Amino acid sequence: MSRLVVISNRVSAPTGEGGAGAQGGLAVALGAALREYRGLWFGWSGHRTDEFTGHIELQRAHGVTTATIDLEDQDVDEYYNGYANRTLWPLFHYRIDLAEYDRSFDSGYQRVNERFAETVTPLIDQDDLVWVHDYHLIPLGAELRARGLKNRIGFFLHIPWPPGRLLVSLPDHQKLVRSLLAYDLIGFQTREWLEAFRDYVVRELGGNLDADGTLHVGDRTVHVAAYPIGIDYDDFMEASRSPLAHQACNRLRESAADRKVIIGVDRLDYSKGLQERFTGYQRFLENNPDRHGELFMLQIAPPTREEVSTYEEIRDNLDGLSGRINGAFAEIDWVPVRYVNQGYDRASLAGFYRAAQIALITPLRDGMNLVAKEYVAAQDPDDPGVLILSRFAGAALQLKDALLVNPYSADEVSDAIKTALEMPREERIRRWRSMMESVRDEDVVKWRHDFVAALEGARIREPEPPPE
Ligand code: G6P
Repeated sequence: MSRLVVISNRVSAPTGEGGAGAQGGLAVALGAALREYRGLWFGWSGHRTDEFTGHIELQRAHGVTTATIDLEDQDVDEYYNGYANRTLWPLFHYRIDLAEYDRSFDSGYQRVNERFAETVTPLIDQDDLVWVHDYHLIPLGAELRARGLKNRIGFFLHIPWPPGRLLVSLPDHQKLVRSLLAYDLIGFQTREWLEAFRDYVVRELGGNLDADGTLHVGDRTVHVAAYPIGIDYDDFMEASRSPLAHQACNRLRESAADRKVIIGVDRLDYSKGLQERFTGYQRFLENNPDRHGELFMLQIAPPTREEVSTYEEIRDNLDGLSGRINGAFAEIDWVPVRYVNQGYDRASLAGFYRAAQIALITPLRDGMNLVAKEYVAAQDPDDPGVLILSRFAGAALQLKDALLVNPYSADEVSDAIKTALEMPREERIRRWRSMMESVRDEDVVKWRHDFVAALEGARIREPEPPPE
């Protein structure tokens, strides 16, 4: 078996702790993959320095070597806070109204990708499989090739791929997408994002598509496919049976005092549709005064990317909105919204999910959404809760038995809450069983095996002709 070298912006020590909600799905999924392949994980340490030195910090834990570098202030501002999170993140989540186009972001992004390539190249052996992750590192494959790497290199995008009509609003969009063609295999979360990518390549770059889905553009051949990511099922089930999970479950049940709990767990990100969710819940309270006091909403939303102003704004907006809902509807013995800004470990989240009769997961756009899958996995088979899920989350293509809603419609969200509250136990069990099958069978192990097997089978690059 070849060694696996994983490269991503963020590297977290693979302790197996931390839930998707607190940490972001990527770190959780990669930690699990690397524990199996005993490979190397390279990326940014998360620290800033005055000047870039290229010094690599090596650590070994649980069979995985992590290699991290610090980035200088300007890099973090232009690459991470800039091009990655002010330009690509909003654009790829269909929010061109929030996307900022600034040449300094562009050059910072390119510079950091070159720095990553320069630093990691000496760590890569001839037979290693190289797997690059996410929107921070789109040009990295091309930079590795420019430094002579002949290995098989794959890329997986954890977030949506936007429709071509939106993508063309990005200055130099062709340059960005062309740089992806240096990879041997490109993976997406769902068919929808895969098709959007193919359409773009065919239309804008004059690519041709084989019957088996292989793309040809000029002299490049690239395999492209959808690999829906899943949860680390065995690990999560173990966490959900732990004393910590039981304590968390009891803590929430006791404090709920027979009231039903509607839970949401998301990074505090505008793509998660939190304002729209609160508004949908508010609509439910307005439409159903007889049900006040019977339930409450628990929204756990750890802050993220706080140096980016749109993230500051969403925090302010939600503080205001939760306060207004509580101000309008609370009674002396009932608060309709519990809004918590801290993150929890995965075992506690599993306990909270089990204590909640409804999960309300309504991103406006999401590559996959692992919280939805974790909620399903945490349920009591004899008395499972109901998952209300945005039809715009990648997970909706697999969890078809959730109550699927349009997250922009407060009425639909309100109706779904009512349906969930009234759903008979047999129907809850029937829906849950079918969702659980998908969560169990299409887990993170299958995801990484499928991707790595496809990368291993991807065409080995032709040796370059000797110089004349
Ligand atoms: C999403 C992205 C990941 C990212 C995570 C957390 O899941 O796909 O690449 O790591 O969010 O965001 P952060 O900016 O804190 O790394």
